[in-house]
Amino acid sequence: MNVLLLGSGGREHAFALSISKSSKLGKLYINPGNPGTDTLGENVKPTLKTFREIKDFCLEKEVEMVVVGPEAPLVNGIFNEFITDPETAHIAVIGPSKEGAELEGSKDFAKQFMQRHDIPTAGYKTIRRDNLYAGFQYIDSMKPPYVLKADGLAAGKGVLILDDADDAKRELASMLGDAKFGEAGNKVVIEQFMRGIECSVFVLTDGHSYKILPNAKDYKRIGEGDTGLNTGGMGAVSPVPFVDDAFMSKVERQIIVPTVEGLKKENIIYKGFIYVGLMNIGGEPFVVEYNCRMGDPETEVVLPRIKNDMLDLLSAVAEERLAHTEIDTDPRTAVTVVVASGGYPEAYPSGFSIQGLENEDDSLIFHAGTKKDSTRVLTSGGRVLAVTSLGKNIQEAREKSYKTISGIKFDGMYYRSDIGLDLINL
Ligand code: GLY
Repeated sequence: MNVLLLGSGGREHAFALSISKSSKLGKLYINPGNPGTDTLGENVKPTLKTFREIKDFCLEKEVEMVVVGPEAPLVNGIFNEFITDPETAHIAVIGPSKEGAELEGSKDFAKQFMQRHDIPTAGYKTIRRDNLYAGFQYIDSMKPPYVLKADGLAAGKGVLILDDADDAKRELASMLGDAKFGEAGNKVVIEQFMRGIECSVFVLTDGHSYKILPNAKDYKRIGEGDTGLNTGGMGAVSPVPFVDDAFMSKVERQIIVPTVEGLKKENIIYKGFIYVGLMNIGGEPFVVEYNCRMGDPETEVVLPRIKNDMLDLLSAVAEERLAHTEIDTDPRTAVTVVVASGGYPEAYPSGFSIQGLENEDDSLIFHAGTKKDSTRVLTSGGRVLAVTSLGKNIQEAREKSYKTISGIKFDGMYYRSDIGLDLINL
């Protein structure tokens, strides 16, 4: 089977690695990919930009499956585009329909969906430009801190948490009135703040049945001890020690089952991954957010723990046979540490040569923001690499990743040295 994988980050490198090991694989293409994925398949050149170009490429290369890494093509309707075109309807797209992708594409849709299906989440109110005053009243009725979420996709930047009511009102007005987050801020969801411990649960569904994948915890802040600005994620651990059977059975009963059933009841086609961001509040799960794709860097710890043939698993999704499949999980712990460009998540210089990539040792070095010139691999993004290791526990996996990182060098290189530390001896 020829496969086209869409995306260019560490998540896609991890997908490319799993797919490249499949006995079902013919040729793997990655659009646009990165220097890491290029060693496992063929990066498409020039990059395919439109759905028309992607469809034409799939027809020319006899691609039978498109695996979509990032959310944007899903929210923009790539699934519908393929399925409604008689020429491409036979090609499986792994990901939800445009309607299903609204779970991530519209925070307001996700909140209403959860309300309709009694899925536990924080209280909220959606505010449009014409009812700003109702937003101010809602803020006055709440206890701080105040959570403001731009409704649409905002590249992970559309969430503000504010301690002061006046600041919250000012920011709300700026999001709606001054289009601070562009179109993504046409509506703003104001949410009650949830205090607890965050973790992420990943579900693979064919729209009828579902499988729960290994869970993970992401480290979103740039600084040690979870301080400083939010990032796409500076590291991840899987499994999460506090996600025990009792908690998971609540997550499954109260969140996963009603989510999959809710999609089905609403005739929303969903054949892909659901990333459920959760808050554990005193042992009770609440949904923080849904994403319609796998997380990054969570994928870099989740996929290395899945022993199934990846294309067997994804074919079962496409053909609605998931009920007859079991997830074969590596019991070891995976830790990934993101190595970033100095300055990230604010402006940073790039184009620095990276040394030590050949010393992979016992780790997997996933490329995230890299590019190649004729002889060298250079930095080209904020998050540059994700270094994953497996071990019998968090300590062992951490040590291996940090040992591998000690052999990697580039100008301005930055990483957090405390990934997983908070989960040891819990
Ligand atoms: N690591 C967070 C995300 O992928 O959204």
